[in-house]
Amino acid sequence: MSGNRIGPDLLGIVGRQVASVTSYPDYSSSLRGLGGTWTEERLNEFLKAPSAFCPGTRMDFPGDVSATERRAILSYLRTL
Ligand code: HEM
Repeated sequence: MSGNRIGPDLLGIVGRQVASVTSYPDYSSSLRGLGGTWTEERLNEFLKAPSAFCPGTRMDFPGDVSATERRAILSYLRTL
């Protein structure tokens, strides 16, 4: 799986600079303004509640995934 779809490509997301996919034109100014890199801790917080972690984000994600589900998602993201 690679390429941008509704959201940006997540290849190499752990450790990647936030909002740094140059081929993805639709980042919100909120996400662009966040700064820093995606650590596992930040990804976990973002998935817990995207708009609480980054008010104004365009990622329209229910944000009610359980801790167990977030661990599984993080395990998967590490492989990208
Ligand atoms: C397990 C599922 C998902 C994961 C792990 C995930 C993860 C992420 C991450 C880490 C970013 C930031 C990327 C970056 O900084 O380059 C992002 C952005 C985004 N995602 Fe997701 N996402 C998921 C599901 C979804 C879904 C279901 C949608 C829409 C239907 C979506 C739409 C977006 C959009 C539009 C952005 C850009 C947000 C902005 O610029 O504010 N994502 N996603």
